[in-house]
Amino acid sequence: MKQLYGLIGYPVGHSLSPLMHNDAFENLGIDAHYEAIQIEPDSFKVEVEKLKKQQIKGFNVTIPYKVDIMDLLDEVDPLARAIGAVNTVVNQNGRYVGYNTDGDGYVASLLQHVGGTLKDKAVAIIGAGGAAKAIFYTLASHKDSPSSFYICNRTVEKAQSLIDQLPFQANASAITLDEAEKKVDTFDVIINTTSVGMHPHVEDAPIDIQHIRPETIVSDIIYNPLETKLLKEAKQKQAYCHNGVGMFVLQGALAFEKWTGIVPDQKKMEQIVLKKLT
Ligand code: ATR
Repeated sequence: MKQLYGLIGYPVGHSLSPLMHNDAFENLGIDAHYEAIQIEPDSFKVEVEKLKKQQIKGFNVTIPYKVDIMDLLDEVDPLARAIGAVNTVVNQNGRYVGYNTDGDGYVASLLQHVGGTLKDKAVAIIGAGGAAKAIFYTLASHKDSPSSFYICNRTVEKAQSLIDQLPFQANASAITLDEAEKKVDTFDVIINTTSVGMHPHVEDAPIDIQHIRPETIVSDIIYNPLETKLLKEAKQKQAYCHNGVGMFVLQGALAFEKWTGIVPDQKKMEQIVLKKLT
């Protein structure tokens, strides 16, 4: 029987995950289907229980359920527990186990893209939500971790609270977006984790980066558009630019591997996503 996989969230209509995973299943000759499953907030618990009864083999979780899903699982892996969010669920002999592949997907993509190491770098993370937390946690616990972090947020209290929840306080400071703009020339890496600049608001940027140094790495987790306003400005300043496609593909590839035990062809996954976005 065809095995069921999927993505739960609200909304999920525009997701490229079904395209990417179904193509990988087909290429590998696996008899499985991945569906976008939209769940209204009112029926979240009931619908998840239904999927579990159907013995869904695995699923991804997106906004707004990455935190709430944890209460409905049999087990949450320690990394996902530390990050406080689950984006991947695996049916392990009828037990549902939650993982987080967002942080690892992001860091692997960044390192593949820029080459070299982030050791001794000063990193500014813009935003203090779930994506910021996964990225901060993964970078700070990396063997070649950056030397300092600035969590830059519109609401600075939220940035401080994020820092307080994780065991990396010694190397991290919470600052406002205005403060980040003032010290933008001291950052080696700038990572936008907010939705500012995402389609259709393509004229927006989370901070002004006019005064960055030319060799700064500017990274945006947004992949629609491929080149956000922030990345356009970075390009003009001869910075290294990194968009969100790699994170999207690699978090998906890591989820696929957890479900099937097979490492999918990342290049093929990226091609199919890029074809849709360009
Ligand atoms: P995610 O789980 O995708 O990270 P989230 O938890 O809702 O999403 O977090 C969104 C982040 O983007 C927050 O840091 C938010 O700032 P606030 O904490 O001040 O709300 C930030 N953000 C969203 N819209 C923004 C905007 N227009 N300007 C600046 N920051 C914004």
